[in-house]
Amino acid sequence: MTHQSPSIAIYPGSFDPITNGHLDLIQRGARLFDRLIVSVLRNDAKSPLFSVEERTEMLKEVVAVYPNVEIDSFHGLLVDHAAAHSANVLLRGIRAISDYEFELQMALMNSRLSPNIETIFMMANEAYSFISSRLVKEVFSLGGDITGLVPPTVHARLRQRLPIIQKKER
Ligand code: PNS
Repeated sequence: MTHQSPSIAIYPGSFDPITNGHLDLIQRGARLFDRLIVSVLRNDAKSPLFSVEERTEMLKEVVAVYPNVEIDSFHGLLVDHAAAHSANVLLRGIRAISDYEFELQMALMNSRLSPNIETIFMMANEAYSFISSRLVKEVFSLGGDITGLVPPTVHARLRQRLPIIQKKER
């Protein structure tokens, strides 16, 4: 009998904050891999709305229903983070063709850095293909309805942050 090692995938991103588009990908990824690790990039240069701790907290709340999904954060090279988890797959979502160019560049660079790690792309569900964290924050700051675009816990946290979001978006 041949022994097959478990499939471990990393789903990296900024998740500032997690949207229902991300969540859909997590749900589908959880069915494909034995373990799915959602990893938040620690990047001070991006001046995020939510701290890494807040983002990981929100992620933990929404993935609690998936037993094979874990939350982590990383800095430095993604391929090093993947190796530390013995992950063999990097999972990324593609919404429109505009995502493709950058994603291809990253996938090829990661493949050059670590040929044993495979990037797997999943197409965003069409119901979520227009959602981005950036647009959610913009629409919310201008008083638009974001119901159905983010999980309720994220919506509640955005409400708490409204004055800060409005200042940032101005
Ligand atoms: O949600 P995002 O902002 O599109 O995610 C981008 C992310 C985190 C996947 C990317 O910035 C990344 O992997 N950064 C880690 C640094 C790295 O490994 N760079 C070289 C690979 S191209």
